[in-house]
Amino acid sequence: MHLTKEEERTLNGEDGETLQKAIEILVALGDIYGADGLIPIKSAQIAGVSYKTIGDAGLEWISDLNGKVKIPSILNPAGMDMLRWEEMGIESDFAKKQHEIVAAYEKLGIMSKCTCTPYYLEGFDVKYGDHLAWSESSAVSYSNSVIGARTNREGGPSALSAALVGKTANYGYHLDEMREPVIAVTVDSKLSGSDYGALGYSVGKNIGNRVPIFYMQSKPSEDELKGLGAALAASGAVALYHVEGVTPDAVKLNYEKPAENISVGREDILEVYEKTAQIGDEVKETDIVTVGCPHCSPDEMQRIAGLLDGKTVQKEMWVCTSREVAERNPELVSIIEKSGAKVVCDTCMVVSPASNNFQCMMVNSGKALAYVPSMCRVAAKYGSIEQCIKEAGVLDEN
Ligand code: F3S
Repeated sequence: MHLTKEEERTLNGEDGETLQKAIEILVALGDIYGADGLIPIKSAQIAGVSYKTIGDAGLEWISDLNGKVKIPSILNPAGMDMLRWEEMGIESDFAKKQHEIVAAYEKLGIMSKCTCTPYYLEGFDVKYGDHLAWSESSAVSYSNSVIGARTNREGGPSALSAALVGKTANYGYHLDEMREPVIAVTVDSKLSGSDYGALGYSVGKNIGNRVPIFYMQSKPSEDELKGLGAALAASGAVALYHVEGVTPDAVKLNYEKPAENISVGREDILEVYEKTAQIGDEVKETDIVTVGCPHCSPDEMQRIAGLLDGKTVQKEMWVCTSREVAERNPELVSIIEKSGAKVVCDTCMVVSPASNNFQCMMVNSGKALAYVPSMCRVAAKYGSIEQCIKEAGVLDEN
């Protein structure tokens, strides 16, 4: 891999130990994947934030680093709402460690905004063709597929290294040839809303990390694409997909239809909705409803507020979003919370240990459906946003 003189100097430790460690990680990855060199990136999104997932070893590793990131960088969701953690039932020992982790990242110049939807944040612009180093799988999928930016599915340490160096190794989805679709997915029925998350859940299981191009009978919105990509990345390992006539690369580059094709029918989508909520052999009753995986957009907040306006929910219900989206929409937050549902910021139903206090979660996200049982040991079932709200036991206030 070719390095500039300046990069060689960093690799030799002349810019300090932290930068040396960081560039070593980037060069090692570049060598493994055959990169020709390092390329500048516009931003980084760094996973490995929840104390639930990184523990004391992760906290120690981040705390030992010195230096400042060279590009705008933000964090993935943490293990709790950083302000309202007590209301979530988080233990104070966990909260202390979680605050230490976020503070250690802040010391490196990383913005302490904890979200998997950085593309909604003001001033954190992402454009077609931008090179990035993002790590949360749904954010990777959205930036690659819906925006047409370019990022590999980075691990926490490699995204952090890229942020410190301001560059990443030029391989994988940074290259035109790796972005071409290799499998066609023909969808035989019209879809809407959470059907797209069900589609991603169903298809992801069968295609691993290959790049698909979808041929659809309906045109998905950006929020629907977000749900599709998140589910594809979770039930499979898809980091980039195209939708013919919709996503930017598919429109601009007019890809040829790949020879391999799979078809998806209504029955495949319905199977996801009908999946039984169980852990082992035990079928569970819903005791919590969560929406906002990935974190809600302003439009989704509006929709949920509209459905909850003037109603009360009987079960625990979380609406997960970024703190910034919540703060920009105080009237929507107030309508949602008046119903008894909680607007939960900085975290989510998968990375927070607060989920473990429940036995069965209803979700409208294919990604949450894939991860909640394995990562939280909580049974999960799937429904549309309307079905989720119904399951929360919604009543008219009057
Ligand atoms: Fe985001 Fe958590 Fe879902 S990080 S994509 S809300 S699992």
